[in-house]
Amino acid sequence: MKLERTLVILKPDAVARRLAGRIISRIEDKGLRIAAMRLADVDAGTARRHYEEHEAKPFFGQLTAFITSGPVVLMAVEGVDAVAVARKLVGATLGRAAEPGSVRGDFGMSQAFNLIHASDSAASAERELSLYFKPCDYVRDAAGAEWRWTYEFTGDKPN
Ligand code: PPS
Repeated sequence: MKLERTLVILKPDAVARRLAGRIISRIEDKGLRIAAMRLADVDAGTARRHYEEHEAKPFFGQLTAFITSGPVVLMAVEGVDAVAVARKLVGATLGRAAEPGSVRGDFGMSQAFNLIHASDSAASAERELSLYFKPCDYVRDAAGAEWRWTYEFTGDKPN
């Protein structure tokens, strides 16, 4: 059990389809905390760096073209086991196979236009967050107020 921070991106299809508010609500409803957020255009160089592990895949060009095709919402999301929790909220890559209840399962059918990205490991989260956010972009959780009813605390350990 670890307090983690992960990168979530609402992709251009989510923003263009005006689903951003509904998807952000799901993240908040779950109890994850948004520590940084902005609407942005992703440039080609950042897109290539973000997805560098997929460079050899046949869909790499499509993937980087898509993420740079329109505004996205960039979010740093925090919580206990936030990486795994966010991945579960996102659902499987292919929308039409994704579990009902997940973002992709409820809002999408496509493989490429799959609405949302969440980092796949703590190491990826750290690397990806540093591409989009500077330390001063993160707002503090003043006096831990946002956690008080999210976790039971034993000392400073959330449960
Ligand atoms: S893999 O091969 O298992 O590593 O691929 P996967 O993790 O499913 O996908 C890696 C990212 O590529 C996106 N993706 C695609 N984009 C465009 N076209 C096609 N065909 C395609 N297939 C997969 C997928 O959504 C992943 O991006 P993120 O942003 O992490 O969701």
